[in-house]
Amino acid sequence: MKSVQGKKAEFKPFELMLDQKKINQRIIQLGESISADYAGESLVMLGVLKGCIVFMADLMRHIKLPVEVEFISAASYRHGIRREDDIVIGGGVSIPLKGRHVLVVEGIVDTGRTASVIVQKITKMEPASVEVVTLLDKPASHRVKINIKYKGFSIGNEFVIGFGLDNAQMYRNLPFIGRVIDS
Ligand code: IMP
Ligand code: MG
Repeated sequence: MKSVQGKKAEFKPFELMLDQKKINQRIIQLGESISADYAGESLVMLGVLKGCIVFMADLMRHIKLPVEVEFISAASYRHGIRREDDIVIGGGVSIPLKGRHVLVVEGIVDTGRTASVIVQKITKMEPASVEVVTLLDKPASHRVKINIKYKGFSIGNEFVIGFGLDNAQMYRNLPFIGRVIDS
C-alpha cells in the first residue's frame, strides 16, 4: 500500500458486519424516535469528534425538529493508570447550553468513559436535558455507569471500523461497518 503523509498505511483485514442498508434503516428509526420524544422543542446535537461524523450527518437529516449542530472533540490517551484522567475534551466550553435540550452524538461507546465525562461536563452547564445517542454500543465493555437513551446497534467486544470509526485514523470513509479480524 502507498504511504500516507510519510507513514505507511497499515492494512487491517476486516469483514462486513453491518451494511449500508441496515445502518440506514436503523438511523431512520432513531430519527423518528428522537423527533417524537422532543416534539415541540428544539435540540442541540452535540457531536463527539471524530467518530460521530458520518452517523451525525445521516441522523440529523432524519430529525424533524429545529436542530442546532455543534461539535466537541474528545481524545483518549492510554498513558495513565486511570484512563478517565486521560480523556481530553477540546472546545465545547463556549457553546451556550443552559436551558437547552442537548443530545450527545457518539459513533461508538466502549468503556463509556468518554460519554460519561461529556455528560458530566454538560450537566454542570444546566441544560434542560442531556441524553446520549450512539450508532454502536459495546455493553459488555462498559466500565462506568452510563445511560444511553438511543442506540443503533449493540455489538460484542470486537474492534470495528468504517462509517466514521477509525483504526489509527484510517478507514473512517468506509460506507459500512467492518469487523477487524484478529490475525
Ligand atoms: P470509550 O471507551 O467509551 O470512552 O470510547 C473511547 C473511544 O474509543 C470511542 O469514542 C472511539 O473513538 C474509540 N473506540 C472504541 N471502540 C472502538 C472500535 O471498535 N472501533 C473504533 N474506535 C473505537
Ligand atoms: Mg479512534
